Order: sequence, then C-alpha cells, then structure tokens
Amino acid sequence: MIPLVDLNRQYKTIKKQVKSAVQNVIDQTDFILGKEVSAFEEEFAKFCQVKYAVGVDSGTGALELAMHALGIKAGDEIIVPVFTFYATASSVASLGAKPVFVDVEDDTGNMDPAKLEQAITSKTRALIPVHLFGQPVNMPEILKIAKQHNLPIIEDACQAHGAEIEITPGEWKRAGSMGLMGCFSFYPGKNLGAYGDGGMVVTNDDSLAQKLKLLRDYGRTGKYQHDLLGFNRRLDTIQAAILRVKLKKLGIWNESRRKNGNLYSKLLSKIGIQTFKTRTFVKEVRHVYAIRAKNRDGLSQFLKENGIATGVHYPIPLHLQKAFEYLNYKEGDFPVAEKIAKEILSLPIFPELKNSEIKKIVDCIAKFNSKI
Ligand SMILES: Cc1ncc(COP(=O)(O)O)c(C=O)c1O
Repeated sequence: MIPLVDLNRQYKTIKKQVKSAVQNVIDQTDFILGKEVSAFEEEFAKFCQVKYAVGVDSGTGALELAMHALGIKAGDEIIVPVFTFYATASSVASLGAKPVFVDVEDDTGNMDPAKLEQAITSKTRALIPVHLFGQPVNMPEILKIAKQHNLPIIEDACQAHGAEIEITPGEWKRAGSMGLMGCFSFYPGKNLGAYGDGGMVVTNDDSLAQKLKLLRDYGRTGKYQHDLLGFNRRLDTIQAAILRVKLKKLGIWNESRRKNGNLYSKLLSKIGIQTFKTRTFVKEVRHVYAIRAKNRDGLSQFLKENGIATGVHYPIPLHLQKAFEYLNYKEGDFPVAEKIAKEILSLPIFPELKNSEIKKIVDCIAKFNSKI
C-alpha cells in the first residue's frame, strides 16, 4: 500500500536524534515553557525571517491568540477564504466574531484577490489569507488591498512552512512573514510536524509578541498575577525538542516534496490530467498535491483497489458546512470552491515517496482514464 502520508518512513531517518531530544527534556524535568521552547522559537523566527516566534498549542490556538492580540471581539467581521481547513474560520467564530467568506481561484484554490474587496464592510477588522497546500496566496495584491482599507493581515501559514513569494521584483519573503502576524500548525502530517499538537505565531511587532506570550500563559506577569485575560495555550517542551530536530531537515524535505511535485506534474501532463498551477512568482512547498477529476470518487476507489491511498482536501466548502449554517450562506454563493470540492483529489506527496511509486500512481490514473 502507498499511504497518503507516511510518518514512519521519516521517523526511521531521525529516530536516534528524536529519542535523545525527548530523553533530555525528561532528564531535566523541564516540561512547561522549557529551554527547548525558547530555543525553537528563536530558530523558527530565523527560519521565517521574522523577529519573534511564540510557541502555542496548535495552529488553531495560533489563529485564536493572534485575533485576541488584535482585540477582535463579538460582532467584528474577519475575511477568510471559503476553501480551506475548517479551523481557519472556526477560530474566528470561537471569538464570537463573524467569518466572511471569499471565493477562490480555479487554478490554484487560493483566495481570489479580485473577489476580496467586495467582502470588506465597515465591520471588517482583519483579513486571514491562507497559503493553501503550500503555495503562497497572491500576497502582493492582498497587501495592496489591506493597505488601502487599513486592515491587518493574519497569514494562515499552517500548510506553508518555508514557502516563498516574490513580493516585489527580486524581493522574496517567507510565508508568515508578510502580514502583521503569521500562524503555523505543527500537526504531525504538516511539512514540519510534531509528534502531537503544536503551533506558532510569528511577527515583527514587539508589543504583539509580548502580548502573545502573556495570552498563551494565563495572561500572567508573575506566578499568580494575571494582568490580561489569557489562556493555557502553550507549546509543549517535548514537542519543541522534537521540532528542533526536524527543523534542521525541513529544507531538504521541502526540496524533496518539490521534486516529487515536479515529477507528478510532468507525468500527469502527458496523460492530460488537470492539476493546480504553480505561480511563476512563488516557491511552493507541496504540502498537498491535488489533481482534478470529473469522476473523482470512482478514481479514488480504483486507486484504493490498486493499493494507493488518496485524500480529499476538502469535500465541503466552508459555507456549506453544517457548523456554519447560521451564517446563512447557500449553495451557489461560491461557485469556484463548490466546483473544486467536487473534483479535487490529493495524491501521496510526502518527502520519502519514491520516483517508482509516483510512476506507479500515474500509471494507475492513466489505466483508470483509459477505461472510461
Ligand atoms: C489551513 C489550516 N489552518 C488551520 C489549521 C489548524 O491547525 P491545527 O490542526 O494545528 O489546530 C490547519 C491544520 O490542521 C490548516 O491546514
């Protein structure tokens, strides 16, 4: 079986270092906001080319705390793409604010800047663009619109550790470093994944970084002194120690994902399969490799019968999720996302995937197509 994601293949290559990193934390009984957390924060900030990184419990926690840090409250509107993982929008709702959806581009699945402006109202307080599947969203356009309307940007970079975009000619920026804050998830299957939950908020803003550190740790300035309504949303020290080991390899792993993606694209174009486009002004990190298929469910079943696992990211656009029924959107409101959701299929793309496996997967897709 070729799995969609194979964490075990990767673990085998770093087993020794991971075990010793975990053992060190236990030996030092340095469990809560330990030295490994601050060391990882420093290294991750450098990796993202920003001044500060604040470790938190998850990508969802990162988004929620970023909005708390901005003082987002009930009744505020926050703009998010309609085609993304649920947590981009649920984090908005959890603060009592209203997610306002924007449709996406048909050829990338990323938020369409051309449709962004019409979603802005007098109640809009922030924009949360998502770098979907590891490809940076069109930030030059989104930054322009945000500036015109004086709105802060919180980047949802949960799927884009290390992705880059040419923001002005010759000037490349990393995902998460262009908005006021950038949010990352270290869910195990991410490009940089922990062995449990984890997340990070990155920023260049001194006062926001200080506020985020209070917000994740009960708002406290002393052991029992709470100056701010904060929470328990800390990054676990054992996870930070593991993430430090893995961050050293991230560049190599992202490069492998890119190579795998390029091979897929070359082979799939020969058999006429539609894939998402990579923009010329980005370096994506291939968190997900998605194709489009009219008979998506039939193809997925056929691949499964031939020992190939696939996924669907995402079968239901957010405005049609039951959880967001109260927002009163209806079918037809976001036609591009609705179409993509019916056709999209994710193929295995993890760094350790072999060329022979990619060829087998593409051959199998060709076989299915020749039957219909
Ligand atoms: C785009 C996006 N946003 C937010 C999240 C939430 O991250 P987490 O699962 O770490 O809470 C994820 C990943 O799961 C994601 O892919």
